[in-house]
Amino acid sequence: MLKRNKAILITGGAGYIGSHAVKLFLEKGYAVVVFDNLSHGWREPLEILKKLGTLHFEKGDLRHKKDLVKVFKKHKITAVLHFAALCLVNESMEQPELFFENNVLGSLNLLEAMRTHGVKDIIFSSTCATYGETKYLPVDEAHPQNADNPYGESKFLVERMLIWYGKLHGFKYVILRYFNVCGAAADGSIGDSKKPSQLLMQNAVRGAMGIEPFSFTYAPVKTRDKSPVRDYIDVEDLAEAHLAAFNYLEKNGQSQILNLGNGQGFSVKEIVAEVEKVFGVTMKKQKAVARKGEYAEIFADPRKAQRILKWQSKKTLQDSILSLKKWYENKPQGYRK
Ligand SMILES: NC(=O)c1ccc[n+]([C@@H]2O[C@H](COP(=O)([O-])OP(=O)(O)OC[C@H]3O[C@@H](n4cnc5c(N)ncnc54)[C@H](O)[C@@H]3O)[C@@H](O)[C@H]2O)c1
Repeated sequence: MLKRNKAILITGGAGYIGSHAVKLFLEKGYAVVVFDNLSHGWREPLEILKKLGTLHFEKGDLRHKKDLVKVFKKHKITAVLHFAALCLVNESMEQPELFFENNVLGSLNLLEAMRTHGVKDIIFSSTCATYGETKYLPVDEAHPQNADNPYGESKFLVERMLIWYGKLHGFKYVILRYFNVCGAAADGSIGDSKKPSQLLMQNAVRGAMGIEPFSFTYAPVKTRDKSPVRDYIDVEDLAEAHLAAFNYLEKNGQSQILNLGNGQGFSVKEIVAEVEKVFGVTMKKQKAVARKGEYAEIFADPRKAQRILKWQSKKTLQDSILSLKKWYENKPQGYRK
């Protein structure tokens, strides 16, 4: 366990996935510093989570070096969980420059602040979007990386920077390539607050609960039912994987690149059918504009993460759907502005 005067920096901790990691690390007794510019995150989850332990919030922007330096000077940071990023694929196809500035330059600033202050352990939120159209399934970590959109490309570039900071500056990293993240805290206290969410299961649950109409947003693709196939991983399973990666680095584990998925592909239509089954409803499905930069089918080979981190995703689709039900019953309109 870390000493009280040392803390873990969680960038993007006010966002969807980051806030679930904040929750778990606080529950495990770690002091946490959240760094977030609140461009897509909220103060409210941090207010809720404050009750669990020592949580400091530092509002700042990765693009501004001085914001980062201030945080590293003020707190004794021992390791970094780096979630902060822009992550809308569609937006990245319209404004790639925002993604390279925010995700790549922002991450470089973070790495430089870490280097200056002697912090070398980092867990990075990468994505299966770095692989692009799949050459074989399931996708293992050796699969070629040919991102189909600037979002995935920006994450790939950060991976490359980390590898070089490892070789040249002694950084130790765990790059976690998440597949599709779903669900909310099982107690319903925190969750995804984007309206509408960019995430399928979230939107399907909101549709089934009558919060807003549900729309399909994909173009027909070559899969078993013509809808895209993805690998869904619950946000609490993901937070557990971060804790396992943190413990792994603490015990002097070597740098790693790991897929975080369930190892199983579900189509958009299958996910919607599962939501309908859990709620006992049939939803009206509106067809919306297809998202640009999407690909047909991807699911993970998660065995390396299971072996190295001694971690296993535990939640079923139904668990994730029920956690979302609890979350949206608690806050149908999401966090306060
Ligand atoms: N949601 C998914 O399915 C998924 C899949 C793969 C990877 N990821 C990755 O996981 C991470 C978290 O995703 P999320 O879904 O929680 O997104 P999110 O938008 O909810 O959270 C991102 C957080 O980062 C903050 N942020 C963005 N730019 C910043 C900057 N320049 N300075 C400071 N803070 C900044 C935002 O305000 C937000 O709170 C991202 O890195 C994303 O690329 C997500």
